Amino acid sequence: MQSNEIRSRFLKFFEARGHKIIPSASLIPENDPSVLFNTAGMQPLIPYLLGQKHSEGARLVNVQKCVRTQDIDEVGDNTHDTFFEMMGNWSLGDYFKEEAIKWSYEFLTSKEEGLGLDPKRLYITVFEGDENAPKDTEAFEIWQKYVPESRIYFMSAKTNWWSVGENGPCGADTEMFYDVTSEGLGDLTKEEYIKADQEQKVIEVWNDVFMEYEKKDGKVVGKLKQRNVDTGAGLERVLMAVQGKDNIFETDLFQPMIKIINNSINSNDEKAKRIVADHIRTSVFIIVDGVIPSNTARGYILRRLLRRAIRYANILGIDKIKIGELVDVVVDKYGPTYPNLIQNSENIREEILQEGNKFRRTLNNGLKEFEKGINPFILFTTYGFPIELIEELAKEKGVTIDRQDFDRKMKEHQDKSRTASAGMFKL
Ligand code: ALA
Repeated sequence: MQSNEIRSRFLKFFEARGHKIIPSASLIPENDPSVLFNTAGMQPLIPYLLGQKHSEGARLVNVQKCVRTQDIDEVGDNTHDTFFEMMGNWSLGDYFKEEAIKWSYEFLTSKEEGLGLDPKRLYITVFEGDENAPKDTEAFEIWQKYVPESRIYFMSAKTNWWSVGENGPCGADTEMFYDVTSEGLGDLTKEEYIKADQEQKVIEVWNDVFMEYEKKDGKVVGKLKQRNVDTGAGLERVLMAVQGKDNIFETDLFQPMIKIINNSINSNDEKAKRIVADHIRTSVFIIVDGVIPSNTARGYILRRLLRRAIRYANILGIDKIKIGELVDVVVDKYGPTYPNLIQNSENIREEILQEGNKFRRTLNNGLKEFEKGINPFILFTTYGFPIELIEELAKEKGVTIDRQDFDRKMKEHQDKSRTASAGMFKL
């Protein structure tokens, strides 16, 4: 089953259960200045989770484009990416745990309507309780109808409590994991399950959040007016499970890019390959939603992704022409789902190539400068190296950058030039 089929099965499955299909919102949040990009399917729905009536009713479903860059350093492993699509269904004060869990299980395992995954490869976590909310025995009992008790684990708020930030709706969650090993892991004790998770032998495929609490300034302050369900299943990870792959880069979404990259000169650098594929794909989606590379906020995230991609492309021996081809295959692959990619393909290509040209002019000189000694401030201001890239280069040399000193110098620099926005370097 390919990605297009999975998106459409997900939407149909929940539509048949009374949900209205809503389109993916832009990556740029409309009414939330506290975040730069939508990081979860629920983000555009926060007002409705808090009680406002949604024009489409109390049951919604969609596939939402998301960007998360806080784990950028992890890109290169089997499962992390900076852009992803989140399949999600919502109950806005309507159904609760019973239906949410039943439907998650059915969609994961049904051959006719869902993904047809092997129920014997599923592992479940539920919330163990803390000072904010009791142990979730209800979810535990519902799950026992579908999964053996020995594969359901009680976990702390660290993993099984979900909120989007310091303020807003939140609640206990139950997470579904799938065994992606070829041999099959069988029964696991809690400790063995935790180890399998760390080793990416089991991967999280879905999260059902029971959003009934509210957080203010980082503290849970009480219950919401209504009990909601907010779920999220990362399409790329679901694809791994369905397509029997142990990493997202081997799924159909990434394969057209990886094929091109595999033809490059130094194609045995697996991490570099994955970084280039991930960062170019994310940049395409950020640009189509109206961002251009710059030194502030969203534009800076984009610049950072593109410059990092260019650096790794250089290592791989990927030139400008190949970068253009990578952009084209992303547009081809995603165009049928997101037609604005096709309409804007020229512009996207142009922005990416232009930023590449700018950075390539200074990259080699900057690297030479870097070899002479690491002056992060000069690398940043004169050669346009994003700070994370400087830190990465330094790490490769076994040196650490004094980030505080850098931030202080940058602040002085900004105060002098009064151009850049103060928040940009924290991102
Ligand atoms: N909002 C939940 C998540 O992102 C479903 O995991």
